[in-house]
Amino acid sequence: MSTTAQEAPPGADEALQAEFDARIAANQRIEPRDWMPEAYRRTLIRQISQHAHSEIIGMQPEGDWIATAPSLRRKAILLAKVQDEAGHGLYLYAAAETLGVDRGDLTERLIEGRQKYSSIFNYPSLSYADVGVIGWLVDGAAICNQVPLCRTSFGPYARAMVRICKEESFHQRQGYELLMRMMEGTEGQRKMVQDAVDRWWWPSLMMFGPPDADSPNTRQSMTWGIKIDTNDDLRQKFVDMTVPQAEKLGVTLPDPELVWNAERGQHDFGEPDWNELKQVISGAGPKNAERVTRRRAAHEKGAWVREAATAYAEKQQKKSAQEAAA
Ligand SMILES: [Fe+2]
Ligand SMILES: [Fe+2]
Repeated sequence: MSTTAQEAPPGADEALQAEFDARIAANQRIEPRDWMPEAYRRTLIRQISQHAHSEIIGMQPEGDWIATAPSLRRKAILLAKVQDEAGHGLYLYAAAETLGVDRGDLTERLIEGRQKYSSIFNYPSLSYADVGVIGWLVDGAAICNQVPLCRTSFGPYARAMVRICKEESFHQRQGYELLMRMMEGTEGQRKMVQDAVDRWWWPSLMMFGPPDADSPNTRQSMTWGIKIDTNDDLRQKFVDMTVPQAEKLGVTLPDPELVWNAERGQHDFGEPDWNELKQVISGAGPKNAERVTRRRAAHEKGAWVREAATAYAEKQQKKSAQEAAA
């Protein structure tokens, strides 16, 4: 074993671990310079980078409709929404970088298929009603998932989530408002909305991940204060929140087992097709290949921007070094 001047004395790790545990137990934040267990760091890097990838890949299904938005107003709203998602990706890559990884490397992992992103973005958006339904259901599910993350134990992640959640809430409302307008329109428009709800409902429920019994990492993540609620609790919350909104909108949620359970004070609902989720996560969803190919092409096309920014930064550094020497 080599020795260095910085090497910790025997027992130091235990003391650090105890201090870390005490801070988690007291609901205090862990910051990038604080000592943290390696497994905590690795879990956070995985979770934050997958979250960042989801924001960036998530620009694609709705981005497909920017050029053919039905009005200038709808185009402006959609552009702003998709641009927000790019911003979310950037905050999250920046939060991941505080854990000692490089965002260029994270992007490589995404485009080489070594890291995942949310399964929901592997479904196609087939009509403009999908823009509304994605805002209402997908951003709605994201809000359920992400509001508790504002209290997650790692400081930079929690702080990024505060701003992201504010914007997600705008996304959800714009989606719902679009659907309201369509439901006041023609019979054809109402059919488009119902069709989009039928296609997106089950994938939205799958956004919360597998059932708790099949989610082996949940307990450890909850002990570390990274995860606050279980997948099933969040899914239940989403269903209870969405049912009255669907009624007001005048659409039917495509689940014959969906019914209010007065005893539990919550809705009962059917089981999503977990095999479908497994398939989509493992790369066999309807749009997996296209999403990643497009992301790779965008990354390659952007190489000149990264090169120019690096050259500019080097030039600026040289200039300030010369000025300091003069
Ligand atoms: Fe987002
Ligand atoms: Fe969003």
